[in-house]
Amino acid sequence: MSGASGHHRVRLTDLHPSTDAIADELRQGLQADPKWLPSKYFYDAIGSALFEQICAAPEYYLTRSECSILQTQAAAIGAAIGSGVLVVEYGSGSGVKTQLLLQALPAAVAYAPVEISRAALLASVAELSALLPTLEMLPVCGDFTQTFVVPQPQRPAQRTLIFFPGSTIGNFAQPEAIALLAQMRREMGANGAALVGIDLQKDPKVIEAAYNDAAGVTARFTLNLLARLNRELGSNFDLQRFRHRAVYNRQTERIETDLVSVIAQTVLVDGCAIAFAADEAIRVEISCKYSLHGFGQMAAQAGLALQQSWTDSAQNFALVLLKPLASLA
Ligand code: AVJ
Repeated sequence: MSGASGHHRVRLTDLHPSTDAIADELRQGLQADPKWLPSKYFYDAIGSALFEQICAAPEYYLTRSECSILQTQAAAIGAAIGSGVLVVEYGSGSGVKTQLLLQALPAAVAYAPVEISRAALLASVAELSALLPTLEMLPVCGDFTQTFVVPQPQRPAQRTLIFFPGSTIGNFAQPEAIALLAQMRREMGANGAALVGIDLQKDPKVIEAAYNDAAGVTARFTLNLLARLNRELGSNFDLQRFRHRAVYNRQTERIETDLVSVIAQTVLVDGCAIAFAADEAIRVEISCKYSLHGFGQMAAQAGLALQQSWTDSAQNFALVLLKPLASLA
């Protein structure tokens, strides 16, 4: 897409993994003991639409809490981050949080969403371009957990800000979360920062309700993963024979979401027979809950210091600003 001046205001970097690589990853997880599937595959078109519905569910406090922080603390967040930034977002989501952040930041230079779903990526870029026509768009189609070169804007940025909202960091167990934070530290550079959304520890009943909404949207969201495998891998999962289960584990301080086989059964996946015992689970997601102190300790192991944090009035959720440890004078 070229502007009237002839320079490119949207430049796509395409690093989408091959269908074979995805099929291998999925088959490996189902052949492991215990069985698991990566939660990043929830987000096909149907899964992304169901996730938007989860965010509107009365029990799912996370999105509303995070948006209220972005709205009420916009001035403080903008002042802490400063002007002229390149915003790199991990996962492009619905764009609502991005809009709130960009409104809070004085004169951002460019926006680089990194998103595995090409459709979601291009839709969010199109929507944001219409709202912010002067912002340079540098979409990257790919998996944000894989190392990539951050595209550089035409107008040089003062610093890079990595925006990772939603408590998506909580979908990673501690070693992977530390590796991801260390990758952020490399991508942000010595002068950079990261703004990360984290869900805070609270009454387990409140947390469990958020992952077991009464309307059953979360159950449909997790089961859609099997429907997606049926559509894209040609497997034959019977969605009536699996059920959603999400339980808060007080030891590991996280929600553990499984798809549980209701009966003993065999499923064909990409030519492989996968046997399930009755009540056998596929682990499909973990959602870690943090204390500010605990998260700061984890970030320190990745060479990042928790510089500032903002929470909502109910202390449900926090946005934390991280900077390279060595650059804090
Ligand atoms: C947006 C990925 C962080 O773990 O809370 C919502 C996904 N799963 N309900 C989360 C999700 C079930 C969500 N993340």
